[in-house]
Amino acid sequence: MSQAFGSLATACFLLGIVMPSFAADAVNGKDIATRWCASCHVVERGQTSATDQAPPFASIGKAPEFDQNKLAFLLLMPHPNMPSLSLNRAEIADLADYIRSLR
Ligand code: HEC
Repeated sequence: MSQAFGSLATACFLLGIVMPSFAADAVNGKDIATRWCASCHVVERGQTSATDQAPPFASIGKAPEFDQNKLAFLLLMPHPNMPSLSLNRAEIADLADYIRSLR
């Protein structure tokens, strides 16, 4: 997969094509958040239905050290009451971008 991506990336680079889908995308991150995280976390402003046990994404994003690596790490930890999700790096990057945008 990474090899295939590597040659694809090279091919696109040679052709001068930009690949926006591989850049962190907060819009996609919001999509993932509303689909997978909103049942427990408040993932956007104005959302009311969530448990009070899960921290709102806006406060997660306020932590000065928050970035996609931190998020990936947090998602690897055993997360009580949270279904184990298998998000790939690109999806985590998108989510992190979205969470940071809530600050
Ligand atoms: C079933 C409920 C549930 C779902 C769904 C859920 N979470 Fe959580 N999450 C929690 C709870 C509860 C906590 C607090 C755990 C604790 O304090 O030990 C938490 C904590 C976290 C934390 C750690 C915050 C911190 O500063 O320690 C992050 C990051 C997080 N969730 C991200 C996500 C993301 C991203 C999704 C969606 C992909 C998600 N969660 C979906 C319940 C959920």
